[in-house]
Amino acid sequence: GLPARVRIHEVGARDGLQNEKSVVPTEVKAEFIHRLAGAGLTTIEATSFVHPKWVPQLADAERLFPLLGDLPDIALPVLVPNARGLERALALGARRVAVFGSATESFARANLNRSVAGSLAMFAPVVARARAEGLHVRGYLSMCFGDPWEGAVPVARVAEVAKELLDLGCDELSLGDTIGVATPGHVAALLTELTGRGVAVDAIGVHFHDTYGQALANTLVALQHGVTTVDASAGGLGGCPFAKSATGNLATEDLVWMLDGLGIDTGVDLGRLTATSRWLAGRLGRPSPSRTVRALSPE
Ligand code: HMG
Ligand code: MG
Repeated sequence: GLPARVRIHEVGARDGLQNEKSVVPTEVKAEFIHRLAGAGLTTIEATSFVHPKWVPQLADAERLFPLLGDLPDIALPVLVPNARGLERALALGARRVAVFGSATESFARANLNRSVAGSLAMFAPVVARARAEGLHVRGYLSMCFGDPWEGAVPVARVAEVAKELLDLGCDELSLGDTIGVATPGHVAALLTELTGRGVAVDAIGVHFHDTYGQALANTLVALQHGVTTVDASAGGLGGCPFAKSATGNLATEDLVWMLDGLGIDTGVDLGRLTATSRWLAGRLGRPSPSRTVRALSPE
């Protein structure tokens, strides 16, 4: 069966804007997040406390986060790769953080300048400290299906790293199809492997990029397996500057269109969300790649 309700973890302001060629002004980011909240999204990933030279698009995190202080009912997770990132997030009062590991060595190197084991060792004290401070911790795992350098990634390998990430103390695990190569049978196989190893399906979220147009099909299969947390990006923005061939995330509008049709509650107002993506597309100077945004937009 399918769930009655899905929690959308909106990543447009982070995964979307980290991949823009131009740096979006801080005030525009703040307005984007406020508009997303106004459209009914309740988990909105705000930014990353990573090295500003690695991701200059999000180097304004210290200026952006305080502009969100009037959204007390919205969960505003932020990415923190290391102790320095966590310090920065704690100093601003962040209540939810995410570490981000990789199932493959190539991407761990490219994204974190570490091996897989080295990155888990970097995260361990971060997760422990965050939990001691009462924060909610998400663990992202990238390259769960395929890797641009290594090709297909075996489900057993993914499950091993996933378990290690959860064993650090993460509250939830987001399975990243960073370059969008997953297909529904592969998603089913990975979820079966993880639940077979004792991972609770409640702790699993799915994070699909839509490179090959499979993100919605993959999502539907995940829902059939009991997943109720789905990552998506308003307007279909997104990608990863450290993974060649990564395109945008599953568009939140495309997701909401499907879930509305299935009678699954998300709390999101599709009209307001689409208007938000049209407004941001105007600021970015190019149309949204989302089919649903285009279909619902006046000529
Ligand atoms: P490094 O060069 O190994 O850093 O980078 P380091 O630990 O050697 O430190 C070097 C210097 O950087 C030090 O300064 C640190 O203080 C400073 P110095 O003492 O030399 O003056 N530094 C920092 N400054 C500010 N904030 C920090 C920070 N950390 C160190 N947090 C590092 C290692 C992890 C920092 C770097 O690789 C990095 O920032 N990576 C971020 C990559 C990233 O953001 N990628 C995109 C997000 S992941 C993604 O998109 C995938 C996802 O969507 C899921 C999916 O689709 O699969 C989540
Ligand atoms: Mg991503």
